[in-house]
Amino acid sequence: MRIAVVGSGYVGLVAGACFADLGHDVILVDNDQKKLAALRNGEVPIHEKFLPELLGRHRGQRLNFSDDLQEAVRVSSVIFVAVGTPPTQSGEADLSYVESVALEISGGINGYKVIVEKSTVPVYTSEWVRKIILRNGADPEMFDVASNPEFLREGTAVTDFLFPDRIVIGCDSERSAEVLRKIYQPLTDGTYYEKPDAIPQPDRASIPAPIIVTSTKSAELIKHASNAFLAMKISFINAVACLCESVEANVNQVVHGIGTDSRIGPRFLNPGIGYGGSCFPKDVMAFRAVARECGYEFRLLDEVMRINEEQRQRFLRKVRSALWTLRGKNLGVLGLAFKGGTDDIRESPAIFLVQALLQEGSKVTAYDPAATERTQEVMNSSITFVNSAYEAAHNADALLILTEWEEFSNLDLKRLRQELRYPIVIDGRNLYDPDVMAGQGFTYYSVGRATSHPDGVPAGALKNGKKA
Ligand code: UGA
Repeated sequence: MRIAVVGSGYVGLVAGACFADLGHDVILVDNDQKKLAALRNGEVPIHEKFLPELLGRHRGQRLNFSDDLQEAVRVSSVIFVAVGTPPTQSGEADLSYVESVALEISGGINGYKVIVEKSTVPVYTSEWVRKIILRNGADPEMFDVASNPEFLREGTAVTDFLFPDRIVIGCDSERSAEVLRKIYQPLTDGTYYEKPDAIPQPDRASIPAPIIVTSTKSAELIKHASNAFLAMKISFINAVACLCESVEANVNQVVHGIGTDSRIGPRFLNPGIGYGGSCFPKDVMAFRAVARECGYEFRLLDEVMRINEEQRQRFLRKVRSALWTLRGKNLGVLGLAFKGGTDDIRESPAIFLVQALLQEGSKVTAYDPAATERTQEVMNSSITFVNSAYEAAHNADALLILTEWEEFSNLDLKRLRQELRYPIVIDGRNLYDPDVMAGQGFTYYSVGRATSHPDGVPAGALKNGKKA
């Protein structure tokens, strides 16, 4: 099928490349000339596994780039809208990009088109898109508006797209549902997975991909509700982690105990320094604003946000309690990205913490496998950026782990200890076993678990019947 994807951000670029891999002809439309030139030149603007491979495979063949939206609409039967929906000051989604794209699309309708929302949008957006297109003279018989929310995660975006837990298509007419079913057919009938050059299957893939057909409004709600629920799961376990710290229980054991209940499940129950990124913080706020506009006060979401904010502050307090004053302290920092596997630092809790530490007068030496450049673009030069975890640890008063990069969980602990001035590790992502760290001579702080000390006695543990 001939598909136009409007917006070459995270979702648009990955969706465009993946649609091409499914065998469709794709025009990726953007109004950023620099970005288009870079994409045409073979550059890959984001750090995303398998994306360079897919762009290399299809660029100039089944995947082309353009700044002419109306022409792209004219030659395509389906138009996916994947432009940004940033938050306004009051937390609502700013839909002005969606509106101006809808307006332009209306001028290119020269036959039946399905206009599909891929961006995360409030529940009433499809109605507005439809109204805008009608107001601008389009024949109601010549188009449908559908919703096809995307559930991909940064870092695993390509495999999330091609091996989804489910595909949700929200359509209010059978003809638009038919078009969307056809687009995803290689995934839902499994033929994609038989291709010799298919992207390798990740663990836990549901093959063939299940498809769920709903009304447009339900699909819009599914997207916001999914992100809000996942954020709630994270805040829930972070709150439990606080309780674990107070009573000297171990949050990992608690997660194991509750996560094995198949009704709860173990995923998205990793405690840490709170969720970040371009989606959860924005979408929880937007969902709350949508609910309010619809007459419902979704107070649960206020609490989800409050716990998330508090989690960062708690971590800061932990750093202070480990080091006493922070002025003049040399801190090694591992991780700047909002999570492992990406170079994205938007709403990164790591960046928030680094800024707070700098403000308190600490000196920060940081290492991130992918996000250094992006951090340099937005932060002043007071951070020293280095090229390995060991360099970050060199002569530091303590080492802070702020992002769950896989390479941070496999460090050579002997070498790390030699590099540090004091063997203190403050781990915001629970990447290590406290006993192992104590055994290697570290004082080790983590989230929701007792602090472990080199002599093997956990802080506050009973020793000879007395509190240590
Ligand atoms: C999230 C959703 O997981 C995707 O399904 C959705 O498509 C996407 O938002 C979106 O709306 O575009 P993403 O923001 O890429 O994906 O990242 P996640 O893997 O969900 O992580 C979000 C944050 O939560 C990160 O800061 C991560 O470190 C944190 N997190 C995640 C935890 O603190 N604990 C966990 O157990 C899981």
